[in-house]
Amino acid sequence: MSTTLAFDVYGTLIDTHGVGLKLQEIPGIKAKEFSQTWRDKQLEYSFRRGLMQKYENFAVCTSHALDYTCAYYRVPLTKEQKQELLESYRTLPAFEDVIIGLVDLKAAGFRLYAFSNGRADAVETLLVAAGIRDFFLGIVSVDDLKSFKPDPAVYEHFLRQSGASRDSAWLVSGNPFDIIGARSAGIQAAWVQRSEESIFDPWGVEPTVTVASLVELKEKITGIDPNKAG
Ligand code: 2OP
Repeated sequence: MSTTLAFDVYGTLIDTHGVGLKLQEIPGIKAKEFSQTWRDKQLEYSFRRGLMQKYENFAVCTSHALDYTCAYYRVPLTKEQKQELLESYRTLPAFEDVIIGLVDLKAAGFRLYAFSNGRADAVETLLVAAGIRDFFLGIVSVDDLKSFKPDPAVYEHFLRQSGASRDSAWLVSGNPFDIIGARSAGIQAAWVQRSEESIFDPWGVEPTVTVASLVELKEKITGIDPNKAG
């Protein structure tokens, strides 16, 4: 069976800090810190909603996290300014290495899917805007289950939806919590560590492979098991 790759979207294919340009236009905002707090809170809200079983979709987590971040930094944005920021979150850029990496993997015969906390329609919009939608056979969203990563059920859902067997599937993610989630669910996982400053959670659960960009992925995955080439 061909190897199936489940690409995490926000923070792996798509750069969530791409919203920085919009933030820089707003007086009184330190774009880098603001964007980091916004992202951290967005994920925290998804984890908490998953645990509490009080599901609201990822866009709601993003919007509530923006409200929190404005309050935290005491930046009183108008409703229109918030709307504009949330709108820009729907069309963020892909990381620089993404297109070249995907071209290579697709040509090698890997089955590529997007697998995200985001709703399928939001992910569709994002991938189209970034010019990478056509690389993927499909989009699998946690929204179908009304839960979030790293609930083990969502990784099982990915296997079912993509028709991949457990030992022919890999998660590819820049988010350590996602890698640990997939490994704990018995799925191989490639951590995309684009910056030396990114730290992997010291839980004793390691990625199967680590790459500095998607360009290294094909070689690393096929190197692990030559039978698992695309
Ligand atoms: C995603 O699922 C975790 O934000 C990340 O796209």
